[in-house]
Amino acid sequence: MSIDLNFDQQLTTIERHILDEQASHPDASGTLTGILHQIALAGKLIAKHTTRAGLADIIGRAGSTNVQGEDVQKLDVYAHRSIFRLMDHTGYLAVMGSEEEEDLIPIPEKFPVGKYVLLFDPLDGSSNIDFNVSIGTIFTVFKRVTPLGRPGTLEDMLQPASEIVAAGYLVYGSSTMMVYSTGRGVNGFTLDPSIGEFLLSHKNIRLPERPKYYSVNHGNYHYWSPGVQKYTDWLQSHEPPISMRYIGSMVADVHRTLLGGGVFYYPADTKNPNGKLRMLYEVAPMSFLVEQAGGYASTGTGAIRDVKPANLHQRLPAFMGNRELVEQVEQFLAEE
Ligand code: AHG
Ligand code: MN
Ligand code: MN
Repeated sequence: MSIDLNFDQQLTTIERHILDEQASHPDASGTLTGILHQIALAGKLIAKHTTRAGLADIIGRAGSTNVQGEDVQKLDVYAHRSIFRLMDHTGYLAVMGSEEEEDLIPIPEKFPVGKYVLLFDPLDGSSNIDFNVSIGTIFTVFKRVTPLGRPGTLEDMLQPASEIVAAGYLVYGSSTMMVYSTGRGVNGFTLDPSIGEFLLSHKNIRLPERPKYYSVNHGNYHYWSPGVQKYTDWLQSHEPPISMRYIGSMVADVHRTLLGGGVFYYPADTKNPNGKLRMLYEVAPMSFLVEQAGGYASTGTGAIRDVKPANLHQRLPAFMGNRELVEQVEQFLAEE
């Protein structure tokens, strides 16, 4: 019988892909596989809720602010809780950290502690919910650095992007996708809602060589340093021309950058002297994916992968995308 390989790809579920990847790691215990599997499940739950956001009373603000002082939407809370509940009892994790929690999140005492650390932005771009615009979830996995068998500590979480074991995102857009990497390239899976499965749809994502888009909040132009302004002017006169696109959900903006080529950036400005994006669960995981797809990620002065975070919610300026575009900003900033 001859088998059509395209047909086989259509039948690659995320579970199968994760297992295949695990099989090529000789010392893998299956724990990382379990973590990714639970994230995919959380993604299905969150997707189910985001698609109903316009219908149900779930839309709207929860009436409190998160540790960054920003509005928390009800869906943020739901997404945070879903991930926590799907992870807390598994024995996979030593500790968790979330954008929605000021302190680290210990594993409840009644459950075993494991060897990995999970950091997440449960709902990214949540200010877009009310406008029916794409939002997402971002996650980072590290291996703990403290000895096994005890609760994880802050030290286990404050690691540079170069130590990431796995990272990825879910994007809740016109379809729901999960995109992740365990350091062997980037793969994307699209949720088929009729069967409730993520199927391999974007195999081995690589940034296209010719960049198509740059993506930044232009409204901040007058708050930027002269170097960032010059860089943006340079992009605007790039040959061949590059179009501008900005959604305001990092997940969606980086997703487009990965598939279409270009650069996404959120620089420091006079309102946000360290940039706006959070290092551990926004900048580091997305930089990891961009580099795994053949690109480069910089703070504007050096590689993001080498930055060691000082605290859980640290912010960091970020430029990521095609290498030649990102290296150019380093030059403009060095000259200012
Ligand atoms: P979050 O919803 O998790 O707080 O993240 C919002 C972030 C990010 O998704 C996006 O890139 C950025 O905020 C947009 O900020 P501006 O509105 O300042 O452009
Ligand atoms: Mn976010
Ligand atoms: Mn968020």
